[in-house]
Amino acid sequence: MRDFFKIFKSAESKQIRGPAELIDNYDPDLIHKLKADHKELLHVYGQIKNLLDGHGSKSPRERNRKISALIPRLKTIFVDHIMLENGRLYGQIKLAYSQDDDVIESVHAFKSQMSAIQKKVYSLLSSWTFDFITLSPHKFREQFRALGKSLGERINREEASLYPFYEEIPNLHRANALIG
Ligand SMILES: [Fe+2]
Repeated sequence: MRDFFKIFKSAESKQIRGPAELIDNYDPDLIHKLKADHKELLHVYGQIKNLLDGHGSKSPRERNRKISALIPRLKTIFVDHIMLENGRLYGQIKLAYSQDDDVIESVHAFKSQMSAIQKKVYSLLSSWTFDFITLSPHKFREQFRALGKSLGERINREEASLYPFYEEIPNLHRANALIG
């Protein structure tokens, strides 16, 4: 958050001007929706973790069946979320801060890091079938833990350092209108 304000200050001093349509395309609910996706992702992740910890099932077979039934849900939330970020978030931020190299660099770093995570998550979620979970339980647990760690870190970084750029767009616009 501190970095963001530092960058925002430098953005102000450079008098960044975004096109007027920036505000027309601004969705005041976008960050709320994205954060709700994060919450839902973590919720489903937590449901699977509870099952792995031995809660809510009578046998390993039943547990694995319940887990494999939750994987497609995780995949759907993840895919929809990435589409929303790619389609609505990055482009708008890049447009709004087009004259601020620090922000553009930071957004590029977020996006390319996300592309790498995205590929990894897709391939993991596709490989987590009932058979895989049943036949390679240790490998599954290990991969599942690693996924949770990278998703958790990513979510924290997005909410602390990426989403505030978007939330500030109306303020930037107002400040520029006053200056202009
Ligand atoms: Fe996200």
